Amino acid sequence: MAIRNIVTLGDDVLRKVCRTQLTFDSKLHTVLDDMRETMYKAEGVGLAAPQIGILRRFCVIDVGDGIIELINPVITETVGKQTGNEGCLSLPGRSANVTRPMKVTVRAQNRFGENFTITGEGLLARALCHEIDHLDGILYIDKVKG
Ligand code: CO
Repeated sequence: MAIRNIVTLGDDVLRKVCRTQLTFDSKLHTVLDDMRETMYKAEGVGLAAPQIGILRRFCVIDVGDGIIELINPVITETVGKQTGNEGCLSLPGRSANVTRPMKVTVRAQNRFGENFTITGEGLLARALCHEIDHLDGILYIDKVKG
């Protein structure tokens, strides 16, 4: 495993719409393992592929309950609202209040291409929305009310 370099604000790669991940091979598994290690080392709760320069639709999240890997995630349902402080490993040293759904349901594939559904509330809901936004080139600062 290897620690990857995290791209920071200003790099175009953070503003691209990522493409669907079609293969579920050892190459993907290596990248996911690297993303997990990179996220833990940086003490983040989520990391999306474009943040390490890969324009594909996958991300990793760990809000304290273990690693979650999401390939081609899609939000299928949202409930309620929450406003809270949010940061991003690509914008070090910054944070702001962002309004997100209180609860979200996401459909995704695991590293073997198998479909699953996950529902998250609170911080997990926030992390799911934040990471999935990255796959469409959206950063949390776009959602801060001015
Ligand atoms: Co982020």
